[in-house]
Amino acid sequence: MRCTSVVLFILSCSCLATGLKILCIFPVVSYSHYTSGYILAKDLANRGHEVTFISPFQSEESVKNLRNFTLIGLQEKWEAIKNEVVLFRMNKIPILLTILQMGNSGLQMVERTLAHEVIQTLLKSNEKFDAVILEQFVNDGLTSIAYHFEAVPILFSTAPAGTWTNHLIGNPDIPSYIPQIYLPSPIRKDFYQRTKNFLVFIFQKLYDHLYFYPKQNQIVHKYFPKHPHIYDLIHNVSLILFNSNTAYSGSAPLLPNMIEIGGFHVQPPKKLPDDLQKILDNSKDGVIYFSLGTLLNSKDLSPTLRNDILKSFSKLKQTILWKYEDDLPEASNNVIIRKWFPQSDLLAHPNVKLFITHGGLLSTIESLYRGVPIIGIPVYGDQKLNIGNAVNRGYGVTIDYRELSGETLSDALKEVLENPKYSETAKYGSRILKDQLTKPLDRAEYWIDYVVRHKGARQFRAASLDLTWYQHISLDVVLFLTAVTIVMFVIFYKIIKWWIGRCRRTKKQKTN
Ligand SMILES: *[C@@H]1O[C@H](CO)[C@@H](O)[C@H](O)[C@H]1NC(C)=O
Repeated sequence: MRCTSVVLFILSCSCLATGLKILCIFPVVSYSHYTSGYILAKDLANRGHEVTFISPFQSEESVKNLRNFTLIGLQEKWEAIKNEVVLFRMNKIPILLTILQMGNSGLQMVERTLAHEVIQTLLKSNEKFDAVILEQFVNDGLTSIAYHFEAVPILFSTAPAGTWTNHLIGNPDIPSYIPQIYLPSPIRKDFYQRTKNFLVFIFQKLYDHLYFYPKQNQIVHKYFPKHPHIYDLIHNVSLILFNSNTAYSGSAPLLPNMIEIGGFHVQPPKKLPDDLQKILDNSKDGVIYFSLGTLLNSKDLSPTLRNDILKSFSKLKQTILWKYEDDLPEASNNVIIRKWFPQSDLLAHPNVKLFITHGGLLSTIESLYRGVPIIGIPVYGDQKLNIGNAVNRGYGVTIDYRELSGETLSDALKEVLENPKYSETAKYGSRILKDQLTKPLDRAEYWIDYVVRHKGARQFRAASLDLTWYQHISLDVVLFLTAVTIVMFVIFYKIIKWWIGRCRRTKKQKTN
């Protein structure tokens, strides 16, 4: 009798414990990164998992099963840097310097996150987690947190599979056709482009292994003296979720534990505010939406440039909705200024003909999802790559920020508005993006659950992770075979030489 009740008790416990305990850490101070993470975390919570979400931002809403912690202070530190740097100037920074800067900001992120009270309190608690989902963004050392909790390490990557992530999981990373994140794609057969991509790839590798990972290792061991080396931690990742999709990021090799969930953040369009709905409905000639995202501010554009832009807008018959953070009395009647627009919902309106964007990943995905072509004005980070993808696939054109003027903008507007190719390609891309066997968030949950269920799913671990870099590219084998070939040629040559010599000698003897 007692035995049965114990069994029943255990059964009921295991029935209740269907949800996983998941810790999500999204430490990047960028609202779009936070948004991606938050949507994923909220979805997991809605599906009955017990989710703890940590980021530099604060969420107002209260969601069942979802616990929010804010990394207070990280945002303020970033604001201070941002004001010094002036993001628009980042356009002029050479690519190699960008790698160094990103590396340094990554190291600071690892240090600040590990040192943060919220993380320290959690580490000292008796909490248990089944999985830790970390946003990978030059901060892989934070996988040490997963090791601490004996939880399955999972990464979420805003960028498509590339040099940041491929080496972690043993995926091929081939510089002849996989673009480096700060370079505009596409890499085609162009020799110059391939050389540049290769050199940046090598530079990134050298930087990572000579400076970045040793440095991260030091930081990790400052907080976790008993942890294994950082390479053991990062090469233990069980699953990577990518915010990519072939519709915009192209086709590339992916191991079975690299899952693309691009487009997951786009939700069915919500009802627009009445006034905005009216504006959109009444703009029979179409609407152009212009926003430089959340980090860049349109109000920081130089006054000359701003006036040039306004002048080229004033010549259009379309209505322009411009996310502008200040008053703009000079604007013509067809330009409507607001500090904020419900971007994703607005793009779903059939009258929206074009989106002028800085090329942030979420913006470009939303635009494609809604089938709206773009004019991209990329400034920094992955924006060139995102816009490059749009140009390559034919649903957008790009204007280099340095060349942005009333004239270049007018030319780009004319091109995209008058040539139906752009809008047709955008609509085609939208259909591809939506045509998937399973929904991205269903897939995310399935794989998270899968790797926990199978204790890290070691069967996915690629053999390449056990090879050194020169073994990986078969350099040792090639060198060995080259050496053998050379030795054989030398021996062959010697034999022939000896043989010819002997023949000559015998001939001489005979004639003598
Ligand atoms: C690797 O991950 C598994 C769980 O997936 C964990 O049990 C193991 O301790 C980890 N090892 C290292 C070196 O991180």
